[in-house]
Amino acid sequence: MLHVTCQMLIMKVVIILPTYNEKGNIEKIIPYLEEKIFPEIKNHEMHILVADDSSPDGTANEVKTLMHKWKNIHLNNGQKKGLGAAYIRAMKYAIETLNADIMFEMDADGQHDPHKIHEFLEKIDSGYDMAIGTRYSNGGSIPKNWPLIRKAFSVIGNIIVKSILMRFSIHDWTGGYRALRREVFLKEKDELINFKGYTFQVSFLHKAVRDGFKIAEVPFHFSDRTLGNSKIVPAEYIVDLLKYVIGVRLKEIAAGSFGKFLVVGGFGFLINAVVLRILVEGYNWAPAFANLVGAACAIFSNFNFNNLWTFGERKAKTIFSYFSKLIQFYATSAFGVIFIQTGTIFLGDTFIGRKYYFLFFLIGTGFLLIWNFTMYSRVIWRKKKK
Ligand code: GDD
Ligand code: MN
Repeated sequence: MLHVTCQMLIMKVVIILPTYNEKGNIEKIIPYLEEKIFPEIKNHEMHILVADDSSPDGTANEVKTLMHKWKNIHLNNGQKKGLGAAYIRAMKYAIETLNADIMFEMDADGQHDPHKIHEFLEKIDSGYDMAIGTRYSNGGSIPKNWPLIRKAFSVIGNIIVKSILMRFSIHDWTGGYRALRREVFLKEKDELINFKGYTFQVSFLHKAVRDGFKIAEVPFHFSDRTLGNSKIVPAEYIVDLLKYVIGVRLKEIAAGSFGKFLVVGGFGFLINAVVLRILVEGYNWAPAFANLVGAACAIFSNFNFNNLWTFGERKAKTIFSYFSKLIQFYATSAFGVIFIQTGTIFLGDTFIGRKYYFLFFLIGTGFLLIWNFTMYSRVIWRKKKK
């Protein structure tokens, strides 16, 4: 931070442009930023850092030529190890050598509208730690001329990531247009070493969300590439991405109160079975009614043990909170059993065949457990914000 004006601190902003064979693009984007965008930004000191991986097309030489004309351009050269590796290297350089306060991630190929830069900065100025560009919320979009399959790939990919991570407030997990304070990178950098490819984006954002950094969204129109080719290898990207989100979610679940939750649920299942048998065999009740009573007893037991034990440190403290949690608990359980567990059985039965109904029951129960646990830990017994 260099100078102090009336209220606003002038911060050093470094726009990182990763490049691999982007000679034609870099000679357009840099002059555009310098001549059209930076003069409009009065309250910060703007810099460009090109993170090139020894591109065979001579991107770096082009950058060196531009560096004669503009003194706020920097070059960080390295070996090609993937997009994530290039960002990690460049962010370290931006902080250690250039003393950046704020860094941008931005594609060098013109797909990220530079006229949005000031909106990202406004978010950071107003106190956010990170601002992420989003293509999937109001005001954002992906190229209209993309073939349907590519659009579907992009949209569905994001929905899958959101659903597995169970974090729906972020609309664009995979995008690469972002601004962040140096503190966010410094906090997460050691954990990012393993994400050398495009998974860097999801893993970095996920860790920032986990650690409670304040994150804002900036919708933007993702335009189509006009020059050169995308460097993504789709199959490799999908596999890496799924590995990351599934792995990290399983770890999150295992690290939480999941064990206690399973014990409580197992005990509830026993209560259900015992009540069912007593009523049917001892009192001649119809099994369906007997099961309803059994299930109601089980849910009541599950609620109280979860409240006192699984999530004991966040338990209901007032009678109002107790009943409010109880109602949410019944609603969550009902939704889960009717739509998630039974819905899975129904879909399997309809589209694949009755022969496998028990398999679908098991899969549906697996989904149900994830749903219940997530709702319990994130909604009903959520951690209070400090
Ligand atoms: N230094 C370096 N090293 N740069 C790279 C590498 C690499 O290994 N791979 C890609 N880049 C650069 C490209 O030259 C380009 O400037 C930028 O990173 C984005 O790469 P593209 O290949 O154009 O990515 P895309 O347009 O297909 O993908 C966009 O969407 C992805 C997922 O939604 C980007 O915005 C990605 O960042 C985003 O993850
Ligand atoms: Mn691109």
